[in-house]
Amino acid sequence: MSDIDRLRSDHLRAVSEARDEAALEQARLQALGRKGEISKHLRALGGMDPGERKLRAPALNRLKSDLQGAIALRKRQLIEQALDAQIESEVVDVTLPGRPRRQGSVHPVSQTIEEVSAIFADMGFGIAEGPDIETDWHNFDALNIPPDHPARQEHDTFFVRSFKGRQERPNVLRTHMSPVQIRALTAQGAPIRVIAPGRVYRCDYDQTHTPMFHQVEGLAIDRDVTMANLKWVLEEFCRAFFEVEQAELRFRASHFPFTEPSAEVDLRCSWKEGKLTVGEGDDWMEILGSGMVHPNVLEACGIDTDVHQGFAFGIGIDRLAMLKYGIPDLRDFFDSNLEWLEHYGFLPLDVPALHSGLSR
Ligand code: DAH
Repeated sequence: MSDIDRLRSDHLRAVSEARDEAALEQARLQALGRKGEISKHLRALGGMDPGERKLRAPALNRLKSDLQGAIALRKRQLIEQALDAQIESEVVDVTLPGRPRRQGSVHPVSQTIEEVSAIFADMGFGIAEGPDIETDWHNFDALNIPPDHPARQEHDTFFVRSFKGRQERPNVLRTHMSPVQIRALTAQGAPIRVIAPGRVYRCDYDQTHTPMFHQVEGLAIDRDVTMANLKWVLEEFCRAFFEVEQAELRFRASHFPFTEPSAEVDLRCSWKEGKLTVGEGDDWMEILGSGMVHPNVLEACGIDTDVHQGFAFGIGIDRLAMLKYGIPDLRDFFDSNLEWLEHYGFLPLDVPALHSGLSR
């Protein structure tokens, strides 16, 4: 075997036996690096006489280029092998069951809003909306509460500084959902049948009051809507909401500036060992305010009071949720305590509907 044949077989073997890229680089340096064996032979050609050089140079150059080809090939093989090994080791079994993680839940207030909306939707009420930051006019004036009216004091109003130049009277964080009556009536006119669930704000804080809480306002205006309709709608609502056969309501004469006559409504119930039962017993629990919409309110919205009349009501949502789900302290609603939410929360995909049961 000539020395060139030996060089060829030795170095090709070293290349083909390299197990990884580092070993391959080592083999390349030993053959073709500056101090590599083949490089030395190539350099030696310069000192040879022309006859000998003519014989060796083509063979050495061919060896060099063959070796370079072999190194490139081996390199590709090694990269592919490494990739195959990686794919093999990182395999994911998509048929494995999921790992249980903490699951989000629906807040009892959201759940209650969904339930209330489902019940009223079933009775033909649409949903109306309005802004949390209200004008003084929508929150008070249009609801028959002029600037000097004593009812304004009861609202513990948060005022909002206006950034759009000076306003005659500052905007407010809405203190109740009744301004949405005004917005819905001015936008849609009569006849109308809507509820408006949402956040309201009053500067107050104790076990049963938080500065932000939730109400749902109801409004039904048509040619012949009466207190009798109001009574039926509210009884129907209570029966559906508390998921009982019978709900008995008691209407107590009251006063709200935006209704005439006005009534506060109590629900017959019993409290036994801290547990509430609706529809029986000797207790009465106040659950809402209501009445026939005051003509001044209708007129503020451009409604002809010779033709149209109707009722309105306002219910505290947080209180409904506390009663139905046995939650003792209102402030817990807004503490974002995960354990509390896990305990009182609802499954996200169980959307309340009358046909499938409101709360499961
Ligand atoms: N807006 C009242 C409040 O926040 C609740 C209310 C009472 C609304 C009587 C009404 C109503 O629509 O007729 O205290």
